Amino acid sequence: MPRTEFIATGFHVPERVVTNDDLAHIMDTSDEWITQRSGIKARHWVSDGETGATLARRATLQALAKAGMRASDLDCIVYCTCTPDHFEPGNGVFLQRELGISDIPAIDVRNQCAGFVYGLSVADAWIRAGQYARVLLVGAEVHSRGLDRTTRGRDTAVLFGDGAGVAILGPTDAPGRGVLSTHLYADGRHAEKLWVDAPGLAHDPFISAELIEQGKHRAVMEGREVFKFASVLMPQSVATALQANGLTPADVTLLVPHQANLRILEMVQKAVGLRDDQVYVNIQKYGNTTAASIPIALHEALCEGRLERGDLLVLTAFGSGFTWASAAIRW
Ligand code: UT7
Repeated sequence: MPRTEFIATGFHVPERVVTNDDLAHIMDTSDEWITQRSGIKARHWVSDGETGATLARRATLQALAKAGMRASDLDCIVYCTCTPDHFEPGNGVFLQRELGISDIPAIDVRNQCAGFVYGLSVADAWIRAGQYARVLLVGAEVHSRGLDRTTRGRDTAVLFGDGAGVAILGPTDAPGRGVLSTHLYADGRHAEKLWVDAPGLAHDPFISAELIEQGKHRAVMEGREVFKFASVLMPQSVATALQANGLTPADVTLLVPHQANLRILEMVQKAVGLRDDQVYVNIQKYGNTTAASIPIALHEALCEGRLERGDLLVLTAFGSGFTWASAAIRW
């Protein structure tokens, strides 16, 4: 059975950069607080006319160019997002339309910060089974329009950013190379610790002025709880990925973790027992872009020459649900 390899990656963030000082002008916060608590210095926000699908399109065109492929060469789209452009249908079909193709399947994966690794697992299974040979895996988010950009929402508004990252995946027969394993987890007992309550069909009507007045359409987070679970479960998921393949932390060339909070990443690094050069961090530039954070970080790591053929790449992510996941990849 073949394994799944990464053929090419791409990413795109909106041009508009919003610094911590910019935020301090619109809410009661400061560069010092945001930097100390999260490590974030800036994030990108969309402007008029930009959507998740348009960001994803730009990222996809970059990856296609790198791969020397056309959109019509793709067999399937796996689109990971928790900030879809519309309530339905999912964003995969909007991206498909943006790309000018109309004859391939498009599935949406709704696993928030763990979305990209969940999506990788789905794509990997299809590729290994021979169902699709060229899968476009997308992580794309537009958070800025959903954030409460007043002091009331400052605990979440300062953390999240917009952006898209993609990978084109395909089968390889090269011995030992490709996705070695993926590991997926969920614990719905914590669903309300980081969630957006509405619009939702648990409400009747599913959206109303009252729900909006109550702020139910905003992301609400028990930050300390999320922090606590993330800093334990992310390293655990890395350990599982290594054990499953008979590997140790010393074998890791690069860990590309979901970029949620610099302090969480430092705890993950320490718990796993990795050096600074084994962990990729770019949260300072983009904030938390949920499903887009890993593919954006991976693309930047590749551009910096941080991964060579035969290197061991490990991914780990944790977020709303709670859902979390890891993957081990021989590059
Ligand atoms: O991908 C998964 C998604 N989420 C995460 O990974 C987030 C995980 N959690 C975190 O990163 C941290 O919990 C935060 C960065 C969100 C918050 O850091 P914290 O050290 O847990 O702070 P806190 O929530 O306990 O708040 C401390 C204080 C509070 O004031 P009082 O009650 O001590 O007077 C907050 O009201 O900081 C205040 N605060 C702020 N101050 C300035 C909250 N947000 C802000 C802000 N600027 N943006």
